[in-house]
Amino acid sequence: MKIFIDTAELDEIKRAVSWGIIDGVTTNPSLIKRAVDRRKGKISMEDYIKEIVKASPGPVSLEVIGRRANEMIEQGMLLHEKFSPFGEVAIKIPVNPSMNDDENIDFDGLKAIRRLSSEGIAVNTTLVMTPEQALLAAKAGAAYVSPFAGRIDDYIRANMGMRIGEDFQKGDYLNHDLLRRARDKILGDAMASASSVREIYESRLINSVADQGHDNGVYSGVDLVARILRIFRAYGFKTEVIAASIRNPRQVREVAELGVHIATVPFNVLKGMIKHYKTAEGMRRFMDDVVPQYRELFMKKKEL
Ligand code: E4P
Repeated sequence: MKIFIDTAELDEIKRAVSWGIIDGVTTNPSLIKRAVDRRKGKISMEDYIKEIVKASPGPVSLEVIGRRANEMIEQGMLLHEKFSPFGEVAIKIPVNPSMNDDENIDFDGLKAIRRLSSEGIAVNTTLVMTPEQALLAAKAGAAYVSPFAGRIDDYIRANMGMRIGEDFQKGDYLNHDLLRRARDKILGDAMASASSVREIYESRLINSVADQGHDNGVYSGVDLVARILRIFRAYGFKTEVIAASIRNPRQVREVAELGVHIATVPFNVLKGMIKHYKTAEGMRRFMDDVVPQYRELFMKKKEL
């Protein structure tokens, strides 16, 4: 599995690259704005992005800001032309750039993906929230799709009335297994008194419980990734899946278990992945047990 770092902070990129585990970088306009603001006018945005591209060992995803197909195509080509001399660049295109129902631009993202991909430019399809969107992006020729695992977990919790920052924190793991078992338990109890399949199927109470804890049959952000992988494997799509909007190490583990091609991971989550209480405790014990004689082995080696 490839690991991208999900940040526009150059220091974080360089540090993570120095650990020897980074294969690329993903950015978005919000991440770049924050990073450049922190430099208080000391570097232009263009030069800053060049530095990111130079620092990355693999593709850097840069996002367009247009919402019409023509704008996105033009901007994608411009970004590619400007920054690809400094390293590998992928262009991030939203799967659907529409912000409300009456805009009539639902398919402009796909049109832009098709055109840029046919020009040989790698497209990273962003804001993918359903397997259906991922399927369409793959059909349009995208090199990558980025399902937003964390935001789907947020949405599932929001639909249960849970508020971010109050009932749960952004980095909290969504225990989808517990959710499934809770739903099964309540459904089992509610079904126990029914006398026909139809009664269960039509029961408002049962349907309202069955509707909880998922988004139209997607049970978590990790489940979204699993379903997309299943579809791509079934048809042999070459499009790679980037598990994005990753919030905690356990999500990284779960998408890795699925065999996802890439996870794009924020710096803090990467730092969390290396830690375990027993590892640190084990280190303390080993270090306590180092006897002078053992230490001498290394001293002799140095003198040679
Ligand atoms: C990835 O490229 C996305 O921009 C990013 O993963 C979004 O993460 P968030 O949902 O934590 O903001």
